[in-house]
Amino acid sequence: MFPWALRYLSGPHQKIFQYHETVRGFIHHEIIRHKLRAPEAPKDFINCYLSQITKAMDDPVSTFNEENLIQVVIDLFLGGTDTTATTLHWALIYLVHHRAIQERVQQELDEVLGASKAICYEDRERLPYTRAVLHEVQRHSSVVAVGAVRQCVTSTWIHGYYMPKGTIILPNLASVLHDPECWETPQQFNPGHFLDKDGNFVANEAFLPFSAGHRVCPGEQLARMELFLMFATLLRTFRFQLPEGSRGLRLEYVFGGTLQPQPQKICAVLRLGSLGPREEGL
Ligand code: HEM
Repeated sequence: MFPWALRYLSGPHQKIFQYHETVRGFIHHEIIRHKLRAPEAPKDFINCYLSQITKAMDDPVSTFNEENLIQVVIDLFLGGTDTTATTLHWALIYLVHHRAIQERVQQELDEVLGASKAICYEDRERLPYTRAVLHEVQRHSSVVAVGAVRQCVTSTWIHGYYMPKGTIILPNLASVLHDPECWETPQQFNPGHFLDKDGNFVANEAFLPFSAGHRVCPGEQLARMELFLMFATLLRTFRFQLPEGSRGLRLEYVFGGTLQPQPQKICAVLRLGSLGPREEGL
């Protein structure tokens, strides 16, 4: 009820404020560095935002200012790092668990891409099985199980339910991603959820790991690109398996904001070419 009061109460949560200040300091330093850079230096998000601040200088209601720039950069880091890394983490765990699926992905990657070419995002059109597996990883893991907390800005009706202005909304994304009416085997890892009988990729309207509507994840396209490129490159390069003597995988999640896999070791064994087998603990 009074989130501001936490600042004045002692306890372990004070560490969050310390870390927050460290991150803010780092971004502030970056902003100064950007301002000092030569005009011909490559332009990025901070540059664009800074030029927007200058353009909107005479606009009394503009929200473009350095304080907000720092917060937006924090939002992008918060939203964009853990989600993608955790999804990839699950991908490797599921494919160690489902060895035949891993081999089928690798077979498709080998057949379609051959040995030499680097993978690009457009290749997903020619890799329906790989694409379906990655979608199934996102569906089954439901990394963001509950979307961000929202509030109705106006009264409205949704599917016959009245929502008065001010209602707090928590979108239960995991329930959509495991809805028995939308998925054939909702509780099982099944790439067939995204394939037709001829093996073509098919989308499903209930695939909403990024949520939907006006407040859909703004990083969705970036995340899809990152996930596909990293997943396909990792699977093409390594075979993933349990280390010798392992007692098996732990598939239950731990809740840490996102639904995360438990810390555990799997091996990446080099598949391609000349370097010979090499094993790395993950
Ligand atoms: C697997 C990857 C990702 C998943 C599953 C994911 C999922 C989500 C979800 C469910 C939301 C809440 C949407 C809502 O309120 O309805 C969200 C918000 C957000 N995401 Fe992502 N996200 C991912 C990657 C990224 C990336 C790569 C970025 C940016 C670089 C990003 C930035 C954000 C931001 C800034 C918000 C808050 C937007 C707002 O408040 O309107 N996300 N994301």
